Amino acid sequence: MENNIMDSKEKMILVGLNITDYKKNSSDFDIDQSMKELEELAEAAGGEVLGVVIQNKSNYDVTYYLGKGKAEEIAEYAQNLEADAVVFNEELSGAQIRNLEDLMQIKIIDRTALILDIFAKRAITKEGRLQVELAQYKYRLPRLIGMRKDLSRITGGIGSKGPGEKKLETDRRHIQDKIHDIMQELKEITGNRETQRARRLKSNIPIVALVGYTNAGKSTILNELIKSHKDYSEEKKVFVKDMLFATLDTALRKAVLPSKKEYLITDTVGFVSDLPHHLIEAFKATLEEVKYADVFLHIIDASNPNLELQIQTTEQVLKELGVAEKEMLYVFNKADLIEYEIPYKAVEPSIYVSAKTGYNMHELEEKIEKMLSGVITITKLLIPFANADVVNSLHKKYNFEEQYDENGFIIEVGLDEEDTGRYRKFIV
Ligand code: GTP
Repeated sequence: MENNIMDSKEKMILVGLNITDYKKNSSDFDIDQSMKELEELAEAAGGEVLGVVIQNKSNYDVTYYLGKGKAEEIAEYAQNLEADAVVFNEELSGAQIRNLEDLMQIKIIDRTALILDIFAKRAITKEGRLQVELAQYKYRLPRLIGMRKDLSRITGGIGSKGPGEKKLETDRRHIQDKIHDIMQELKEITGNRETQRARRLKSNIPIVALVGYTNAGKSTILNELIKSHKDYSEEKKVFVKDMLFATLDTALRKAVLPSKKEYLITDTVGFVSDLPHHLIEAFKATLEEVKYADVFLHIIDASNPNLELQIQTTEQVLKELGVAEKEMLYVFNKADLIEYEIPYKAVEPSIYVSAKTGYNMHELEEKIEKMLSGVITITKLLIPFANADVVNSLHKKYNFEEQYDENGFIIEVGLDEEDTGRYRKFIV
């Protein structure tokens, strides 16, 4: 989409509501943690946080989301600090955005728009970009009335009306057309993916998916696990950076277990609480890939004080994707940064590792091997020396080390269906 909502280093005030009516507030909601997460999101979007305001209130305000008096107070605070925008911790309606802009005379950003903005900055592949764009348009459509393309009205004080009815109608139609076009394009891309997937499923190679809260270290672990594969090269490495949502575009990569069995491993987009609904919808296609995974590694940043909330968040997203019941190993990463390894009974089986120092990484591979043992069947082959060409062609496809005795080569390998048929006469 042509315009991101934020320019770099925009100065922001964060605003959150703490709903005090216990019936309306779920017991596990912690406003301080939630605001901390919002702060990280704001920084990930390139903003600078000048202040955080929390209002305790018994219920939401339909017109302004928070109390009118509080909104006026924040407007003054924002003006004194020369802030550029006020960021709200939840999704606002189009009317609330407009009312708040009118009252506070400053740019209003809600949590959803903020997350969409970060995703827009991070998407690399065509599919990733299209999916974020689709989510942005879907978010905008019902909010057209509240949103203005430029805020000259506010900053320059020119005029006081929103876009006219006619303009609104044209904008609406324009967005609808865009949504239609993007969906068409995505359909084609998804079609290609389906064909690739079908081919892979036939090949009987197990798939491991890495999931977890953003910045937990998924990409770093993936890079470590793929290193020992014979096809490994530096270009296969995935992007690692100390920022939220560094990974948006996922791909399957080849890895190998201690027993030399081959498997495929995939990274996923990092999770965060209250992921916008449209975004989950949009990324479902990318995350479809994980549905076919045989084993999940749930990566947790062991050094993060909010790790329990982060675990819950990831599990909630997995539930929404319909994969919460899959076989799961909880991997507490960044063990180098902590003093004690606290066993979390609620999340078993688990292992502490450090992708950075290599601590327990081999044990991790052994655990993956154990979990996959039910998925791959290992076949033993005896190939006479006269058929050395068969060994060569197997090497092109699989990872193994052959032994030999006086009768020929002895190979233990997880053959796919096709090769099991083709080399049947060598199976012992
Ligand atoms: P998203 O793409 O946002 O979902 O992140 P991710 O989970 O893929 O995390 P990534 O691998 O990009 O790592 C995030 C940050 O944590 C990077 O700065 C890594 O260098 C750092 N990191 C990863 N593993 C370890 C570890 O074992 N120890 C320490 N100290 N830092 C680590």
